[in-house]
Amino acid sequence: MSGSNDHIDDNARRYGTQAITAAAERLKVGGLVAVPTETVYGLAADSTNAGAIADIYRTKGRPDFNPLIVHVPSITAAKKLGMFNVLAEKLAKDFWPGPLTLVVPKTKDCPVAEAVTAGLDTIALRCPAHPMMRELLEISGLFLAAPSANRSGGISPTMADHVARSLGNAAPLILDGGRCQSGIESTIVAIRGNDYQILRPGPITAENLQNTTSQEAVSQRSTAVEAPGQLASHYAPSKPVHLNISQAQPDTYLIGFGLVAGDSSLSPSGDLAEAAANLFATLHVADASDRSQIAVAPIPDAGIGAALNDRLRRAAHQD
Ligand code: TXA
Ligand code: MG
Repeated sequence: MSGSNDHIDDNARRYGTQAITAAAERLKVGGLVAVPTETVYGLAADSTNAGAIADIYRTKGRPDFNPLIVHVPSITAAKKLGMFNVLAEKLAKDFWPGPLTLVVPKTKDCPVAEAVTAGLDTIALRCPAHPMMRELLEISGLFLAAPSANRSGGISPTMADHVARSLGNAAPLILDGGRCQSGIESTIVAIRGNDYQILRPGPITAENLQNTTSQEAVSQRSTAVEAPGQLASHYAPSKPVHLNISQAQPDTYLIGFGLVAGDSSLSPSGDLAEAAANLFATLHVADASDRSQIAVAPIPDAGIGAALNDRLRRAAHQD
């Protein structure tokens, strides 16, 4: 074999089985790999290797009380790690592979490292749809813990270049699969016996969940204890962010939507899925612009708009 893919130390690799095989080898010896999923790029490691998990936390600069999502190739594989009741099974069958993370009780002999679940007796599981991530799971044979591949608190990466810029010198091998399709992190649903609760809104909407289960989500208790990752200031650009703005000051980069044109638009036609796919890339552009502030046009809260507004509120939050 010849060509640039032979150089395992290239920072980014194009989609291809040879690149994925090299990435799988790294993961098997406890290394990290950045990999595209249908939502955002993940920073992946073998979930059963405590040293590799510590490396994820180190690379992200993430508080170590924040648990990670474990990615699995199938429902069968998921059942080795978590306990699925009828409701969990129904949701997995209807939405996997896809952008839904299920929080379920850990199995008794769950092999993942303690640091993955940060001491909780539950585990967050997701079966991703992206062909590159699926091939990586298959070739490595590992259950991959993977948070979003950005510095903790930064904007989530939807392109390989975002990963390289956010992690800088700490960036591992990056598998480059182009832009992520959904562009917003998975919906996180916690199973509570026969009920479910939405811990993080995402591409699978409240309406989608309700249609499948014929029941509404139970209302959100304080997630402070259970999902410490939902820090208010997540996804924060380095500049002040103002929401629901239709006309901006000259020193402000206005992110448009629908009738509000702005300096650039999440979706000129007002399409919420298109806006979600463009959100983080647009925040990266606004953050890198020469303006001192960022403003965002009003976004309706319907469907995936709830997830968009959730991420925008976090981006706008000042500690
Ligand atoms: O789309 C996604 O979910 C992406 C891609 C890479 O798969 N991953 C992602 O991971 O967004 P991360 O680490 O950035 O977010 C994981 C979230 C955190 O907010 C964490 O608190 C929550 O999942 N979480 C993990 N385990 C949990 C558990 N046992 N109970 C409640 N929340 C949990
Ligand atoms: Mg994240």
